[in-house]
Amino acid sequence: MSDPTHPLSSRRRFLQQTAALSLLGPSALAQMEHMQSAMPAHMAPNAPDAKHPMLHVLELPPFVDPLPVPSVAMGTPSPRKLRITMREIQSKIHRDVPPTRMWSYGPTPLGPVIEARSNQPVEITWVNNLPSKHFLPVDFSLHGSGRDLPEVRTVAHLHGAKVPTRYDGYPTDWFPSGQSKTCHYPLQQESATLWYHDHAMGLNRLNTYAGLTGLFLIRDQVEDALNLPSGPFEIPLTLCDRNFTTDGQLFYATSGDPDHPWIPEFTADGILINSKLRPFFNVEPRLYRFRVLNCSNSRFFGLALDNHQPMIQIGSDQGLLATPVEQKFFALAPAERADLLIDFSHLAGQTIHLRTGAFDILQFRVANQTSTMPLHSIPKTLRTLPRTPESSATLTRTITLNEHQDRLQNPMVMLINNKHWHEPTTEFPKLNTTEIWEFVNQTEDTHPMHIHLVRFQILDRRTFDQFELMTKKNLRFRGPVEAPAPNEMGWKDTIQCPAGQVTRVIIRFEGYPGKYLYHCHILEHEANDMMRPFEVIA
Ligand code: C2O
Ligand code: CU
Ligand code: CU
Repeated sequence: MSDPTHPLSSRRRFLQQTAALSLLGPSALAQMEHMQSAMPAHMAPNAPDAKHPMLHVLELPPFVDPLPVPSVAMGTPSPRKLRITMREIQSKIHRDVPPTRMWSYGPTPLGPVIEARSNQPVEITWVNNLPSKHFLPVDFSLHGSGRDLPEVRTVAHLHGAKVPTRYDGYPTDWFPSGQSKTCHYPLQQESATLWYHDHAMGLNRLNTYAGLTGLFLIRDQVEDALNLPSGPFEIPLTLCDRNFTTDGQLFYATSGDPDHPWIPEFTADGILINSKLRPFFNVEPRLYRFRVLNCSNSRFFGLALDNHQPMIQIGSDQGLLATPVEQKFFALAPAERADLLIDFSHLAGQTIHLRTGAFDILQFRVANQTSTMPLHSIPKTLRTLPRTPESSATLTRTITLNEHQDRLQNPMVMLINNKHWHEPTTEFPKLNTTEIWEFVNQTEDTHPMHIHLVRFQILDRRTFDQFELMTKKNLRFRGPVEAPAPNEMGWKDTIQCPAGQVTRVIIRFEGYPGKYLYHCHILEHEANDMMRPFEVIA
């Protein structure tokens, strides 16, 4: 066999695997190729070496580990208080791989699922019990990440929550190992699949990669009334990609420049579902509900079932859709969530797989019979979901997404409106007003844009002439206005902005005045420097 550390053989293998996964568009693929070839193994502190080359995850026997289901954290009843401690743990990602060092919000690699109710506040004390040295390659040259700062910094952000600014997890509100912070979440919002993750300036891509993520479910009476599958029939599925060395340790690539190890994107061929590589899950022949989260740094998933049966999407980032949407395939960008029903009732005794691209990542083993627990059915309608009329907007902001390359055409920095994070705030929406934000994507990537504090609706997308905008500063459309897909018609907080398109969203700024931020949720982009502040003015 070929030497796995040899650049050519690993690159070829990488390409084969990428092709097998076939998740991303051609430009992203080209970038990944580039990254792999530009990656000198000897530079990174955790790089594969002769003793610990890269683990070939696709050569491991699939479907040997049961799918773990995360524990639910309740805390004290009233007032609801929880204490969540970040710590270093060891975890088995696969039967045949030695334990992996990870960071987690709990004793297992799956942060506890926090169950909450609409309008019932929760108080969380986030405790940083992590070591004081990072085990992944920190880039000290990134803004807000200097050598003069404590090396391990954390701040938890509750993604999708309407939270006063001081508890929102502003990137500079980090605290070091040995400290904690108590945050109050009013939760004056509807049922939704939220999640929490690290947001520390310059580090969150590494902290998240190390494992600092978890789900946070808000429920309400509208959801209760639907009698959806619950208990053992409602299962969180968190999906992310990781690379490992043969000794089972997390591998995160670097640029090869020890002074600037930042890389423009990170994708890996090991897909973890609830912290396991290609697990199996025993189900009954009945309807199940899956709360799906893509918590990858950069990877998009193209999800389908291998028997081509449709999945029924009932919710997106910010809660239920108006009606269930049947789909055989859908793409989930980093930070997006999908609330799915899958009906196994006609599949007794069979085995089917959830796949991304052409690659099976989770095996469902359907039992011959159901237990005696009550069965559920697919609701016809879910909730009334008024569309925000375009005419209610008092302001339209044009927001460009830009990439700047070095002489060798390597991405150097990604910007919003050609501005860096630390430049003065330019967006000051007024509280209780509605605005349209149009993201003009002048790059070759899809960027999942996320806005803190608010929920929004997507209006439309439209292709423009990139060359004409670049050379003549003229925005000329080249295609028709495209309506959002049916599963994008609900409330969103993260939206896919494809290359060469204007993506328009309509946002009502509700909740709290103060400083917030918006950014691309490709964590490598966000770190350098696709993140900008905005301030809601009372
Ligand atoms: Cu998922 Cu700024 O966060
Ligand atoms: Cu967020
Ligand atoms: Cu991006």
